[in-house]
Amino acid sequence: MAKIRSTYRCAECGAEGPQWTGRCAGCGAWNTIVEERLAPATPANAALVGPSRVVPIADVESEGWAPRPVGIGELDRVLGGGLVAGSVTLLGGEPGIGKSTLLLQALAALAKQGITCLLACAEESAQQVRMRAARLGALYPKLWLVAETDLSAILAHAADVQPDVLVVDSIQTVFDPELASAPGSVAQVRECAHRLVRAAKDGGRATVIVGHVTKDGALAGPRVLEHVVDTVLSFEGERHHALRLLRAVKHRFGPTSELGLFEMTDDGLAGVPDPGRLFLSDRQAHAPGSAVVPTLEGHRPLTIELQALVSKSPLSMPRRSAQGLDAGRLAMICAVLEERAKVLTSGADVYALAVGGVRIAEPGADLALALALASSVVDRPLPADLVACGEIGLCGELRQVGQTGRRLAEAARLGFRRAIVPASAPQPPPGFEVVRASTLLEALTMAGLPVGDKPVGFSRAVSA
Ligand code: TYD
Ligand code: MG
Repeated sequence: MAKIRSTYRCAECGAEGPQWTGRCAGCGAWNTIVEERLAPATPANAALVGPSRVVPIADVESEGWAPRPVGIGELDRVLGGGLVAGSVTLLGGEPGIGKSTLLLQALAALAKQGITCLLACAEESAQQVRMRAARLGALYPKLWLVAETDLSAILAHAADVQPDVLVVDSIQTVFDPELASAPGSVAQVRECAHRLVRAAKDGGRATVIVGHVTKDGALAGPRVLEHVVDTVLSFEGERHHALRLLRAVKHRFGPTSELGLFEMTDDGLAGVPDPGRLFLSDRQAHAPGSAVVPTLEGHRPLTIELQALVSKSPLSMPRRSAQGLDAGRLAMICAVLEERAKVLTSGADVYALAVGGVRIAEPGADLALALALASSVVDRPLPADLVACGEIGLCGELRQVGQTGRRLAEAARLGFRRAIVPASAPQPPPGFEVVRASTLLEALTMAGLPVGDKPVGFSRAVSA
């Protein structure tokens, strides 16, 4: 009989070691090492590629790899057209963000087209899922449901039903009874994922696996999970906002730059094909501290309001709070404002946020954030029809960001008429006025803010 070997593995990054340690040597996480008992290993990807044969690349069969539209526009957009037969997709997201809802709606849309689907639910009872399905109008005869946690049983049911699409919700709650480890452990997650991938490739069946994420947003379970699947989708959003963003983090069949937008409603997730006014609907255009930035999320232009409030701090170490924005970037912009434009924020609490529950990671939002901060410090609003985009350097210079034209065209569509852009930016759309600035100080002056001559700070704004 094969000898059972024991090893120690990090539940976060999957790094392996000979003994238990408090801290993972691979990723530095604390308390993530777990013991794992292993039967003799099989090569991870052996079944994915099958017996090998050498052929000219043009002769490799590509039939059957065309994506099949799911019928939910925003999902199909992110998937690059739809689900590919035999592909495996991992859908990650925080608990309660709407993963189960999205997949139930997706299966309903497929079943409605006459495609056989099987939903294997290992987190909720069949009754619970049925009730939700009734509410979402998802009761189609081609949509099969099984509440099961044993992966072998799930695969046996799939062999019976022969679905074109299989959904397993979630990878952390299913288990393989032949492995000694507990459900959710690294060995279980990895082995179950491998079995699902093998079954998907053998049966040419599109499979979607739900995966939980950890507190800091990474997919729980070993990284190998991300390597064995074809597509990794991430479902994000603020729990208290209705907006949900779907992105492809990895995609073997299409681009990863697409963004899908949904709104959580009482009737499930509704696609938001035109997010234009969504982020601007409650804007107080004449309030100090509000600036608008035309951003680009993947290929999608989004015009978003940034707000800043600089207020007197009762603390010896004032607060810097960034919601939906990068905290490091906020600190840097405060420093550049102080040093290059004499707009003082030290000694004051600084709050900055992107309205609507989005996260802006691109540096193109720097200029708008600096304008919002300065506008709050001097307590003067910015022009209501103004947008601004550009990256700020440490010397206070403005740098161009990609696709300015597309960004401004979207802003123009939403009624904005003027933009402050870096000096090197290309031509604007017709009817749109651009003001070119090469430094942050120039941009602040052009936006009508009284800065530059002498230092302005929060205390001055109060006494003024
Ligand atoms: P769910 O899909 O269960 O999240 P996940 O699978 O990611 O954990 O959805 C959770 C939340 O969505 C739940 O708190 C209630 C809300 N919700 C709605 O607001 N409307 C709906 O129609 C549905 C089905 C859920
Ligand atoms: Mg769920």
